[in-house]
Amino acid sequence: MLTGAASPRGIGRATADRLAGDGWAIAILDLDAEAARTAAAEIGAAHGTRAVGVGVDVSDQGSVDAAVNEVEAALPPILGLANLAGISSPTDFMAETVAGWDRVFAVYMRGTFLVTQRVLDGMIERRLGRIVSVSSISAQRGGGTYSKVAYSASKAAILGFTRALACEMGPHNITVNAVAPGPIDTDIMGGTLTEERKAQLSVEVLVPRVGTPAEVAALIAFLLGPDAGYITAATYDINGGLRAS
Ligand SMILES: NC(=O)c1ccc[n+]([C@@H]2O[C@H](COP(=O)([O-])OP(=O)(O)OC[C@H]3O[C@@H](n4cnc5c(N)ncnc54)[C@H](O)[C@@H]3O)[C@@H](O)[C@H]2O)c1
Repeated sequence: MLTGAASPRGIGRATADRLAGDGWAIAILDLDAEAARTAAAEIGAAHGTRAVGVGVDVSDQGSVDAAVNEVEAALPPILGLANLAGISSPTDFMAETVAGWDRVFAVYMRGTFLVTQRVLDGMIERRLGRIVSVSSISAQRGGGTYSKVAYSASKAAILGFTRALACEMGPHNITVNAVAPGPIDTDIMGGTLTEERKAQLSVEVLVPRVGTPAEVAALIAFLLGPDAGYITAATYDINGGLRAS
């Protein structure tokens, strides 16, 4: 199950495609219900796998509960969850408002909490599960993409969430990990990136380009897959070396 996987050029959609190719049944939960259903139909047709698309606001408990109920009724038990739902937040700190700050934390932190807690019930019962949440280099470096302080702070919260939850879930044979991408060629940073913006974003990247959604998808698919059972509480950097530069 993936949240935030409906936008056609996004990391979530690329991950859904990748996982479907690996034989997973796919559930796409997204604020854009129509796009979630379209993505699921396309993935089902392309890979011959079962796929459902459901509308959700990850920051709303009732909405999360209803969406996961729908997934559980339609598909086999949920083995893996990728928390990808997200918004950008390019507001300078001194212009930030309480409403803006709270919305970013509601989507990233409350959303990750609500969706993860909702699916963990079944995973604990079955003694098998994989959780992967998307943080950002912005949490580690204080920037490197487009968004500002609220985004960096909420993405840093994802890292603490991941490590602490991994401690509680290890005994249940459930792994909990994070990935921290550098700039990736999606539409979240204020629209599709021009060649000029890609060049600006890659100035300090050791591999001098922005990353692709498919590259992040491959990492998430590995962490959700059968070979990653001894990896937990980890943060995987995927940033072309930006953090080191
Ligand atoms: N693109 C990058 O450079 C980059 C870098 C680091 C981390 N990330 C993270 O990767 C994740 C995916 O981003 P992306 O770049 O693919 O962007 P994207 O805009 O393509 O995908 C984000 C998706 O989240 C959905 N969404 C937004 N609010 C939601 C809500 N309340 N409930 C459910 N769904 C909601 C959107 O509809 C959209 O489909 C985000 O968490 C983002 O912060 C992206």
